[in-house]
Amino acid sequence: MHVIVADDSPLSLELVSAALEAEGHTVQTANDGLEAFALLEAGAAQVLISDWEMPNCDGIELCRRVRKAGFGRYVYIIMLTARGGTANLIEGLNAGADDFLSKPFDPSELSVRMGVAARISGLESRDMMIFAMAKLAESRDNETGAHLERTRAYCKILAEQMSHDPKFAGVIDGEFVRTIYATSPLHDIGKVGIPDAVLLKPGKLTDDEFRIMQKHVEIGASTLEAVLKQNPCAGYLKMARDIAWAHHERFDGTGYPRGIKGHDIPLAARIMALADVYDALRSRRVYKEGYPHATAKRIIEDASGGHFDPDVVNAFKQCDAQFVAVSEQLADLHAKSKLSVAA
Ligand SMILES: [Fe+2]
Ligand SMILES: [Fe+2]
Repeated sequence: MHVIVADDSPLSLELVSAALEAEGHTVQTANDGLEAFALLEAGAAQVLISDWEMPNCDGIELCRRVRKAGFGRYVYIIMLTARGGTANLIEGLNAGADDFLSKPFDPSELSVRMGVAARISGLESRDMMIFAMAKLAESRDNETGAHLERTRAYCKILAEQMSHDPKFAGVIDGEFVRTIYATSPLHDIGKVGIPDAVLLKPGKLTDDEFRIMQKHVEIGASTLEAVLKQNPCAGYLKMARDIAWAHHERFDGTGYPRGIKGHDIPLAARIMALADVYDALRSRRVYKEGYPHATAKRIIEDASGGHFDPDVVNAFKQCDAQFVAVSEQLADLHAKSKLSVAA
């Protein structure tokens, strides 16, 4: 892995670098936090190992800056410290550190910590691969723009909001939120199996064409099911399958493909259903204009208990301002130019 080591002690820098290089990692060194930040900004390092006390910008400040900057990738941060105690641990974690390595460091401990860093970075590349596959599947459909980016953001907002509801305690946690964000883009992956004549038809579909289009849920779900069979413990595959299979089911049982109702519909699919429909309502199509937020909101509220789970609709009502922000940030180009013409 590509690692940046920040420490104001030349000896410590050398020892840590040598141990990392001996394990095959690529290392860059920095004498303080500012230098380390510049290296992180300019390069593609995945791991930062930082001393706690340094001149100019100390380890805690560096953590905060790295988390604020984001860099479009996850930087795994290990704090190198002689400090013990819960208060220091909490300060480090609050600033965004992932792990701690005691000083003077033990090479075998460093090796174990780097193993954890590699696992976390691997998860990130898995999520990026999932999104790339979803984008590829969607690329045949030229009307959808940033639909996947928006719907995964809506799913995350809804799941986060619902995680505060005691009703979902122990059901929706941080892992659920991360998983729905990662897997919801696969909801329409089955559209790869829909013929161009139906998928790309401008305008409304006939009943027969709609029946063909509906097959996308079964095609997507059976593809994911095949992978799930080989990895039955993979929770993210299960959620991806559930979403693909059930995102067109309706709370009152009038959806497809199975017409299941209420809590028989997997929770992640009930959340996806609202995110998907909200985005469809707001988006312009060949045959329709996009609705303003207030209209989309009213339609969704009216469908509480019908199309949508009332708990999901309630969450939506509490966080709909965040939906507006996402729809503006990730607006499609034609929608953006329309807005500027209107303005
Ligand atoms: Fe769909
Ligand atoms: Fe969709």
